[in-house]
Amino acid sequence: MHVETLDLLAFRNISHAHLELNPGFNVFYGANAQGKSNLLEALYTLAFLKGFRAPRSEDLIEFDHEKAQLAAVIQNESARTRLSLELAPKSRRVYIDGMPCARVRDYLGILRAILFTPSDVAILQNAPAERRTALDRMVFNLRPAYLLDLEQYQKICKQKSALLRSESPDQNLLDVYDAQILPVALKLITARYRYLELLAPYVTQIFAQIFDNAIDCQISYKCASFRNDIQFGTQNSASLEDVIQVYTHHHQTARAQELASQQIRVGPHRDDWSVRLNGRPARMFASQGQQRAISLAIKMAEITCLRKEAGIEPIFLLDDVSSELDPVRHKKLFDTLNSLTTQAFLTTTSRNHVPIDSIGRLFRVDAGSITHEP
Ligand SMILES: Nc1ncnc2c1ncn2[C@@H]1O[C@H](COP(=O)(O)OP(=O)(O)OP(=O)(O)O)[C@@H](O)[C@H]1O
Ligand SMILES: [Mg+2]
Repeated sequence: MHVETLDLLAFRNISHAHLELNPGFNVFYGANAQGKSNLLEALYTLAFLKGFRAPRSEDLIEFDHEKAQLAAVIQNESARTRLSLELAPKSRRVYIDGMPCARVRDYLGILRAILFTPSDVAILQNAPAERRTALDRMVFNLRPAYLLDLEQYQKICKQKSALLRSESPDQNLLDVYDAQILPVALKLITARYRYLELLAPYVTQIFAQIFDNAIDCQISYKCASFRNDIQFGTQNSASLEDVIQVYTHHHQTARAQELASQQIRVGPHRDDWSVRLNGRPARMFASQGQQRAISLAIKMAEITCLRKEAGIEPIFLLDDVSSELDPVRHKKLFDTLNSLTTQAFLTTTSRNHVPIDSIGRLFRVDAGSITHEP
């Protein structure tokens, strides 16, 4: 999938833009606060019907304007589709090939995007809840039905937690909740295990390509009820059956502890994952550049999984990708991006950050106006 053209009217500080895009790299360079991230956000909004920095869609409309208009022509393997979007403070109109589209689910998925922003670099330092959400999003991107299981698990856990906090919890009702929780929890654990198992070798391979072949970058899954981190592709790797068995045992024997602590002690709501470099926790030992390379490798591995497992070709939005990598790593990053053959949109404050042979099309962003530089 790639975006052929993008048209914007009154989107953030971009009053007007018509862009003809390259199916490979599109580099947007300019000084700070000129509209580079806004441009990526426009593409993101066309994909997901919301911005990545705006809680309300009216924030996306240019100041003192009534509405924003966005349109893109998307070329898929089999078809060319025109998506358009009109955002007003109290309304949103969505069109596919000029026809109004009433159901959001008919729209979502026509343009798929993976976003990398500087805040993704902090993923390893973040709280487990944020890492869990990032993992859930990756699993959902590949298997949308996962969301239903996740929501169901969260709903039952909420009910059970409320019951555990009540004065004298009804044991029979706890039994009912536990019986409901077990199968859903096993579905989540299975989906996360399988996803990380799939992702892990790509992360290792891409990190080695960008950063250093001599450094082994390993992803591990910390299933809350399992003693050790599960490191895929190593001797420490525990089978999914083992993980399921251990969780089931904990789940069935946790009652006394749960009543004492008034909370659900084990389960997917406490899962986490982590990254190791040559066996040491990257959270503690990775350099800034290594952390950037890890977070980029995870995104690129996600794109590879989407393509290989589901035949989905997302576009790749990379905001401010350049800082912190030295020139050698930069070059390797771009070679790796090139080998992905994904349409990529990159923003940078300096065109020198982007190796010249990698540039498909170069755009200069200056006070909201975007010009193609031949
Ligand atoms: N709704 C809006 N209407 C008009 N201007 C806006 C709107 N929202 C944001 N802006 C302005 O757009 C400008 C550019 O923002 P953007 O985040 O795209 O900059 P950038 O080029 O990515 O800069 P940096 O290199 O610092 O990340 C900012 O000055 C911001 O105030
Ligand atoms: Mg920016």
